[in-house]
Amino acid sequence: MAAEHDSCCSRCVTFLITIGLTALFLWLSLRVDEPKCYLDYIYVPALNKTLNSNSTHNKNTTILFALKLTNGNKDKGIQYDDVLLSFRVFESVNLTRPLGNATVQRFYQGHQKKATKHGNFSGGGGNLTAAVAGRMWYRVDYATAVKYKILFWYTKRHRLWGGANVEIGDSGMKVYRKAVRLGGKNPVVIESGASKLSGRYRALLLSLLLPFCGLWV
Ligand SMILES: *[C@@H]1O[C@H](CO)[C@@H](O)[C@H](O)[C@H]1NC(C)=O
Ligand SMILES: *[C@@H]1O[C@H](CO)[C@@H](O)[C@H](O)[C@H]1NC(C)=O
Ligand SMILES: *[C@@H]1O[C@H](CO)[C@@H](O)[C@H](O)[C@H]1NC(C)=O
Ligand SMILES: *[C@@H]1O[C@H](CO)[C@@H](O)[C@H](O)[C@H]1NC(C)=O
Ligand SMILES: *[C@@H]1O[C@H](CO)[C@@H](O)[C@H](O)[C@H]1NC(C)=O
Ligand SMILES: *[C@@H]1O[C@H](CO)[C@@H](O)[C@H](O)[C@H]1NC(C)=O
Ligand SMILES: *[C@@H]1O[C@H](CO)[C@@H](O)[C@H](O)[C@H]1NC(C)=O
Repeated sequence: MAAEHDSCCSRCVTFLITIGLTALFLWLSLRVDEPKCYLDYIYVPALNKTLNSNSTHNKNTTILFALKLTNGNKDKGIQYDDVLLSFRVFESVNLTRPLGNATVQRFYQGHQKKATKHGNFSGGGGNLTAAVAGRMWYRVDYATAVKYKILFWYTKRHRLWGGANVEIGDSGMKVYRKAVRLGGKNPVVIESGASKLSGRYRALLLSLLLPFCGLWV
């Protein structure tokens, strides 16, 4: 009688452990990281001061850009819809004027891959300039939707969007040399250099503190 009870109990425990492990496995394999989107390169020939000693006489309205998209997932592919880009120029700290739109065609990206997509368009109705306190700032936004490929299946679509303010220098290229993350929460307002620095310190502080928070959760 007791032996029968034991085997029932151990079967029950085995069952629960199996369920638990299956749930953990499912959770791990269904968890996805969103791709990251960066403005890798932008070049506005009309703003190249070396090229145009007479910049107001330059009629070249081309804007060239490269978008970088990274898939950090270890074992999931990503199917992107068309990536819609909009470019605007700041006329004051909180007011922008549209320059034009561009589209990066839909594509598939394997796991842990980076993709750089070049494009160009003609914009601004001929006027690509505006100054805020003597400096030129562009606003670049993207919007798309992605499906994640898990083994042989695709998840439903997830919408993604974001943008960043990008300072354009005298070479017609962006001043910040590294790729600029088009993050979801970057406000359409030019902040002072000081507040940007404190933002970076906040991120650093957070990344130092997060492992400790893990101990309490
Ligand atoms: C700007 O124009 C100069 C003169 O034509 C050229 O040498 C330079 O490469 C241009 N700058 C960029 C970033 O292409
Ligand atoms: C710049 O513009 C002025 C006035 O239109 C003109 O006289 C001059 O030749 C131009 N210079 C160059 C390098 O195009
Ligand atoms: C504008 O500049 C780009 C890059 O230098 C060049 O490829 C393009 O042909 C130019 N367009 C015109 C109309 O000059
Ligand atoms: C934009 O900035 C100006 C001053 O630079 C301010 O008066 C105005 O309220 C701001 N507008 C918005 C919508 O924040
Ligand atoms: C660019 O796209 C936005 C929406 O994303 C739209 O409101 C705007 O009219 C478009 N501009 C041009 C020049 O097509
Ligand atoms: C601009 O884009 C077109 C395709 O839309 C491409 O054929 C052309 O080579 C591009 N020009 C430059 C300078 O990248
Ligand atoms: C372009 O727009 C800016 C801001 O609106 C203005 O100050 C500038 O005079 C314009 N340039 C031309 C050539 O129209």
